[in-house]
Amino acid sequence: MRHLISPLDFSVEELDKLLDLANDIEKNPDKYAKACDRKKIATCFYEPSTRTRLSFEAAMLNLGGSVLGFAGADSSSAAKGESVSDTIRVISSYADICAIRHPKEGAALVAASKSTIPVINAGDGGHQHPTQTLTDLLTIRSLKGRLDNITIGLCGDLKFGRTVHSLIHALVRYENVKFVLISPEELRVPEYIREDVLKAKGIEYKEVERLEDAIGELDALYMTRVQRERFFNEEDYIRLKDFYVLNKEKLELAKDDMLILHPLPRVNEIAVEVDDDPRAVYFKQAQYGVYVRMALILTLLEIEV
Ligand code: NCD
Repeated sequence: MRHLISPLDFSVEELDKLLDLANDIEKNPDKYAKACDRKKIATCFYEPSTRTRLSFEAAMLNLGGSVLGFAGADSSSAAKGESVSDTIRVISSYADICAIRHPKEGAALVAASKSTIPVINAGDGGHQHPTQTLTDLLTIRSLKGRLDNITIGLCGDLKFGRTVHSLIHALVRYENVKFVLISPEELRVPEYIREDVLKAKGIEYKEVERLEDAIGELDALYMTRVQRERFFNEEDYIRLKDFYVLNKEKLELAKDDMLILHPLPRVNEIAVEVDDDPRAVYFKQAQYGVYVRMALILTLLEIEV
């Protein structure tokens, strides 16, 4: 039985297959409409979510399966003090696969160790968010035609942003990917990622503070929200929250084919005026999230269509 806890749980070859499957699902949705007949996904979300939870549910419904779950710790027995380990043991007998989001780093790993069904990490604190990474990879590969030979800018809260952490882990495995890490000093990529991932693998990267200084060289720009819920004090959040605002003026400095990605939700970091720019693909990205989660569910349940 397989789980997806970290983006590295799939090899590059397995990922390629998964992304191919997602592309096929996009083209031929009817072919997959009954693939998960009588299967159930449990979505156990201890933290807020719109896209991740609903895209998992839409994915399972599109495959002909059904969904159960909870959308907040308050509405589950976590509020009574139940551990994740106990909850997953029980859910294992109610569903065939489970997606879990939790504010604590490592929670999905703990769940997987007690589970008898495949567990998918739908975000564990400020650590990892592998299914967002699958979504990001599918978006870049589908719209750029490749995952190698790209210069990608990651901008915003690189410290607490789990989507950024997972994306870096995944992209260093492709040839000639260069990173431009754009953040204020306080929100730099954590040292363990700089040292153990980027430096250890000899990856080309640089850190800059001003978006304008880097935007012109990028093939893709990955904007992120300042992760308010992970800040220790509100003052720091208020000081940093509008550090970056991508607007039309800054976009004039960018390449004509630069992709603008964002895991969403957006707060202020991308002006609404940017939404009509053909380079803005973040809503399309959210749509790819459904296809890739359909592909993931089929893969983990070992269902071939
Ligand atoms: C992200 C998350 O939850 O980490 N959202 C998402 O799943 N698309 C990004 C964020 O909340 O900023």
